[in-house]
Amino acid sequence: MAADADLESLPGVGPATAQKLRENGYESFQSLAVAGPGELANSADIGENTASDIVNAARQEADIGDFETGTDVLERRERIGKLSWLVDDVDDLLGGGVETQSITEVYGEFGSGKSQITHQLAVNVQLPTEVGGLRGCAVFIDSEDTFRPERIEDMVRGLPEEALEATIEDRGLEGSPDDEDTMEELVADFLEKIHVAKAFNSNHQILLAEKAQDVASKQEETEWPVRVVAVDSLTAHFRAEYVGRGQLAERQQKLNKHIHDLMRIGDLYNTAMIVTNQVASNPDAFFGDPTQPIGGNILGHSSTFRMYLRKSKANKRIVKLVDAPNLADGEAVIRIEGEGLKPE
Ligand SMILES: Nc1ncnc2c1ncn2[C@@H]1O[C@H](COP(=O)(O)OP(=O)(O)O)[C@@H](O)[C@H]1O
Ligand SMILES: [Mg+2]
Repeated sequence: MAADADLESLPGVGPATAQKLRENGYESFQSLAVAGPGELANSADIGENTASDIVNAARQEADIGDFETGTDVLERRERIGKLSWLVDDVDDLLGGGVETQSITEVYGEFGSGKSQITHQLAVNVQLPTEVGGLRGCAVFIDSEDTFRPERIEDMVRGLPEEALEATIEDRGLEGSPDDEDTMEELVADFLEKIHVAKAFNSNHQILLAEKAQDVASKQEETEWPVRVVAVDSLTAHFRAEYVGRGQLAERQQKLNKHIHDLMRIGDLYNTAMIVTNQVASNPDAFFGDPTQPIGGNILGHSSTFRMYLRKSKANKRIVKLVDAPNLADGEAVIRIEGEGLKPE
């Protein structure tokens, strides 16, 4: 596992330095490979030259991926699945639903419904494919302490009748959606299939993405492979920790590595990646345009869907597809109900 990397095999790293590195969140070759030598020298009390040697050696060791044939790429693309929002207008906008092997970014201001969407997709993904799911489990990386099992329960109970009946049968449970015992069992089973971890800071979040790959690898052998990884929010920690222009480059470098890790899980395990991002709501904010996600188009170079969420009247929200490969831009309206996301 990445977190158990033998740091002491790196030049100039003895037990004391290895411990300091780990304490500062450098637990893998990958995290060291993307570190700046200056930053490393400071946090581990070593000289810049040693730090530089460590970074270079870690780059040799880190798993940076491999080439594959066009045939492999084609086979992989044929496996792409579509995860339904259970809101037809949004699914249509997306050409069928949220794609696996892609990152979908949902951005919008506070309260626009980003966390509700990640919860709903962690539910929907578990449904059989004939009712819009991918019959898989979910990984939820929670950086804002917003994951609520109670909301999952509301959303499971709020699923359309047809979806409930299908998933009850699929899980081999007795009874129907009208039986309270069945529903309790069903809710418990949905919760059991969501793997949640709280990210305490950006380095921790990066490590959790590596760990998510381990979970995906383990689940792949089971009946319930990971089919969605939600990161809510992708950017909050990075934004809070790297303030000011001087740290922008470093922040972007870290974020890029993190996004790359997520992309890799998507590719390797046929998983949909859904990440949330805030827009600047404060006109004085460093990133001026209030309709732009924090950090600009951070995902610009990934194969990606981007959706902008806007508040409308009461519980209505406007979902706008901003730019997506091979799809026309467009809008749809959803409502956020007690029972989850619903059509207009
Ligand atoms: N139990 C609920 N019943 C109805 N609406 C809810 C419920 N929980 C949250 N909401 C709605 O979701 C909104 C918050 O959405 P949220 O996903 O937390 O926003 P964001 O993550 O974009 O900040 C609230 O303003 C509220 O309208
Ligand atoms: Mg939120």
